[in-house]
Amino acid sequence: MADITLTGPGGCNGRPSFYITTPIYYVNAKPHLGTAYTTVLCDVQARYRRAKGFDVKFLTGMDEHGQKVEEAAREHGMGPKEWCDSQVPAFEELWRTLEISNDDFIRTTEPRQLRAVSYLWERMRESGYIYKGSYDGWYCVPDETYFTENQVHKADEERHSEGQHLCPDCGRPLTRVQEESWFFRLSAFQDRLLGLYEEHPDFVMPSFRMHEVKSFVEGGLQDLSVSRTSFDWGIRLPFDEGHVTYVWFDALLNYMTAVGYGQPGEGAAAELARRWPAQYHVVGKDIIRFHCVIWPAMLMAMGEALPEHVFAHGFLMVRNDETGQGEKMSKSRGNAIAPQEVIDLLGVEGYRYYFMCDVIPGEDGAISLSRMEQVYNADLANSWGNLVSRALNMSSKYFGGMTPADDPTWASRQSPLRDIACGIEARYSEHMESFEYVAAKDVIMELVHAANHYVEDSAPWTLAKDPSRSGELADVIRNLLESIRISAHLLAPFMPQTSVEVLRRMGATGELDCDDLATACEWGQLAGGVEVTKGDALFPRLAAKG
Ligand code: ME8
Ligand code: MG
Repeated sequence: MADITLTGPGGCNGRPSFYITTPIYYVNAKPHLGTAYTTVLCDVQARYRRAKGFDVKFLTGMDEHGQKVEEAAREHGMGPKEWCDSQVPAFEELWRTLEISNDDFIRTTEPRQLRAVSYLWERMRESGYIYKGSYDGWYCVPDETYFTENQVHKADEERHSEGQHLCPDCGRPLTRVQEESWFFRLSAFQDRLLGLYEEHPDFVMPSFRMHEVKSFVEGGLQDLSVSRTSFDWGIRLPFDEGHVTYVWFDALLNYMTAVGYGQPGEGAAAELARRWPAQYHVVGKDIIRFHCVIWPAMLMAMGEALPEHVFAHGFLMVRNDETGQGEKMSKSRGNAIAPQEVIDLLGVEGYRYYFMCDVIPGEDGAISLSRMEQVYNADLANSWGNLVSRALNMSSKYFGGMTPADDPTWASRQSPLRDIACGIEARYSEHMESFEYVAAKDVIMELVHAANHYVEDSAPWTLAKDPSRSGELADVIRNLLESIRISAHLLAPFMPQTSVEVLRRMGATGELDCDDLATACEWGQLAGGVEVTKGDALFPRLAAKG
């Protein structure tokens, strides 16, 4: 688990590889605010890393096997593959709408996954960490998770459930499973897992989640049933045709399949060597154990390198504006918000900004439509959008539709904005690298707010009336435009289209595909004497609902 360095091995043309993944989502539900949240979170990181010169691979996709999918397909009178095919477009469309820049989209029903899972089984058989037995215990079909008798009893007591046994995680009724099964010797990995957490405390991020993972493993691990015989919708074991792969054993492997694992040809081997291990698996807190316990144990059994980090974010809750409390989003509560509803309200860029810059990703975040409007109006309409439109208007008005002419000495002159901009990229990057997007946004907003104040303090409209102060006026406009140029670069991972548009309006089109953010953010690169475009308001103010 090497540190990421710009000179490290594994890169392409000297650029280091940065491999980041979302969970692969179940086909059964439509994409919602939660799945979109994880996906945008990864997208922001992928875009940021591209701007930092990394050779990025950003993977998302669909988890299509398992009992739940088989049952849903039957309910809809379709074959399972047909059912999956009918569900996937809604995801692909929403990702396109939300400007998700994934480089690959994997479906576990693809031939590459079948090859990888078959290959995995052969390696597992050689490893001696699997054995055949019979499973007799509890299973949560919606979560596709096994539970022991003890876990179930404890949960039943806590929930005072009578008669029916309920899932310790989600509270839905459990199914009793009794069938022949292959087992993965998870119990053999307790010490090695604890060693991993000890040596790599940042394997699980944020750090407070490590505690949960550790105490789970310290409590003792049971072998895991990893094949099923009571239904068909899954990848068959190459050496035991009556069994299909347990959906999680299949699903977790997608992260390696997508970079060439189990695929024929030298190209695949080279890709795997270059891309694996991944830098980040980003997941919700609901699936931490699969990613922080089972997945590393599987990799240890196969003798493969472990991912560098699993970043687990909290759950989005809906804020009840009357009580101020966060509630679980659900259709039955009637508080579920559809992504399209938020897009209609804020636009795509406003949507991304709100979820990334106002919700702290580590914790559970309470969201509400009224908070969204408030953040949009304050940060985007009144601060960022307003700054851009004022500066471009003034530049255009006072300098004949242009930016002020080049002046080789301007950038070395003292200004409050230059002071803030100096070192801003480093401060921002420190937060971006650890997914502290709200803090990164605060760093940018410091410059944006200062620039808005600077307009008031320097009153360009007064300077413009006095021909003897034209040099001063030019500097004020340059300082403003330069602050905007830098802010646009820093905001680009959050709101890519807006940044492109801002740079375009100020004639900085050569900067659109940035791969050296630190250099791009150095003060003094504003292009002088180029045409500016005023354009429409980037973020029209939302009127308060009466
Ligand atoms: O678990 N807030 O798929 P899934 C934030 N197929 N994020 C949320 C959320 C919420 N309220 N609800 C869901 C699976 N998510 C497996 C994964 S990976 C090898 C297999 C997000 O469709 C969050 O990322 O149930 C969570 O981990 C994921 O959706 C679960 O998606
Ligand atoms: Mg789930």
